[in-house]
Amino acid sequence: MNNVYELKHPLIEHKLSILRDKSTSTKEFRELIKEISVILCYEALADVKLDKIEIETPIKKMKTHRLNEDNLAFVPILRAGLGMLDGVISVVPNAKVGHIGMYRDEETFQPVNYFFKVPKNIENREVILLDPMLATGGSACDAIELLKSRGVKKIKFLCIISAPEGIKKIQAEHPDVKIYTACCDEKLNKNMYIVPGLGDAGDRIFGTK
Ligand code: PRP
Ligand code: URA
Repeated sequence: MNNVYELKHPLIEHKLSILRDKSTSTKEFRELIKEISVILCYEALADVKLDKIEIETPIKKMKTHRLNEDNLAFVPILRAGLGMLDGVISVVPNAKVGHIGMYRDEETFQPVNYFFKVPKNIENREVILLDPMLATGGSACDAIELLKSRGVKKIKFLCIISAPEGIKKIQAEHPDVKIYTACCDEKLNKNMYIVPGLGDAGDRIFGTK
């Protein structure tokens, strides 16, 4: 699929089987979201450009490469995206962080934006947008549009579980945005929940239900 990178690995399937299980505790759910986010972050940054530098090991000088972490910004979509932040920050500890608040109206399923705060000079940074669930794609596409309206040119979208509907919407509206997902699921149900999915990610991360 165009611009979609799915983690295909038996250990990811193993971790997802625990994450999806309704009897998994809040603690374990949070830990797994974090762990899978680390792996998604490595995948998403496989093409990142490094700066040439010279260092000195205890043995000799050498030319090598290093990431300018300042060029990157992680932007979780609140609330559930916050669950992925610790993991990606452990990979790039000096990246900037922005926040976009979105919730899905329970009747119309349309996203509602209630918060937007991004780092200075966001237009010069590569943005890695975080949300564990890509369902209809409404929240992701609105968040991408908000970022583009601030001049952001390079955006990647990281999610744990994705539905075909959401993938198609991003591909159609933002073909420049690469999607990194641990698993592409089957479909959405009539309540626009991902099937088989894992339920409500925000509620499971924050223990609100
Ligand atoms: C969930 C999820 C996404 C959105 C996905 O958030 O974290 O943001 O739904 O659905 P969509 O692709 O159909 O837009 P929710 O609205 O439940 O808010 P929360 O993160 O505060 O729980
Ligand atoms: N949001 C969630 O948290 N889960 C879904 O399955 C769909 C949207």
